[in-house]
Amino acid sequence: RQYWLVVPAAGIGQRMQADRPKQYLQLRQRYILDITLSRLLDTGLFAGAMVPLHPDDRWFVGSDSASDARILTCTGGGDRSDSVLSGLDALAGRLSDDDWVLVHDVARPCVAAEDIRRLIVGLGEGDIGGLLAAPVSDTIKRQAADADSVSETVDRRALWRAFTPQQFRYGLLRTALGRARDRGVAVTDESSALEAMGYAPKLVRGRTDNIKITVPEDLPLAGWILDQLEH
Ligand code: CTP
Ligand code: MG
Repeated sequence: RQYWLVVPAAGIGQRMQADRPKQYLQLRQRYILDITLSRLLDTGLFAGAMVPLHPDDRWFVGSDSASDARILTCTGGGDRSDSVLSGLDALAGRLSDDDWVLVHDVARPCVAAEDIRRLIVGLGEGDIGGLLAAPVSDTIKRQAADADSVSETVDRRALWRAFTPQQFRYGLLRTALGRARDRGVAVTDESSALEAMGYAPKLVRGRTDNIKITVPEDLPLAGWILDQLEH
């Protein structure tokens, strides 16, 4: 079985409030996009990576990844799941339905090789797939419908935070994301598209320092985590 990556990178990084999409901000003189892709591909586990880009992307062409033969690009869509689906469509003909696809946010450069291997080993030759995730550690409050006050404390014992990579069989993932789009169901990760079809993706425990760079204060944190990982 082949393992392929789809790394959605078509977002504009609105919450980062920078002068460019956050994947083209730099950590130690490298684009976040280049760090993420090299950390994934340097595991040696993948046949290649498909990277959906924004139609107006002006930065990828000048990135280190642009000259890497293992990395292919396509045009992404209006939200994350559209971008992932366009990446899967662009891989048609290269993969068979039973091959594995790992979808990973370009904004998670701190992913550890150890986590990628644990996900792949944990899923084995299962039929469906699963995701890296971690149990919620904060106490969780539900907001009252009409105010900024607490209506209740949610029992967190069965709650997990979903990370990426999320790993699924190519054919099934494409079907699931296509159905979600056709039905107008908004899905913020791959697992939820499979869940909507009645499948139960496997939870594989991942490191909590696999952060998604979202707001400005995440940048120095990501730099520090990368220093620790590469030590
Ligand atoms: N993404 C994408 N296509 C979109 C929207 C998001 O490929 N139309 C990607 C982002 O590039 C990112 C991942 O999905 O790798 C997770 O999205 P998020 O962290 O929300 O990034 P942005 O959408 O860029 O940020 P924001 O929501 O703050 O604008
Ligand atoms: Mg977004």
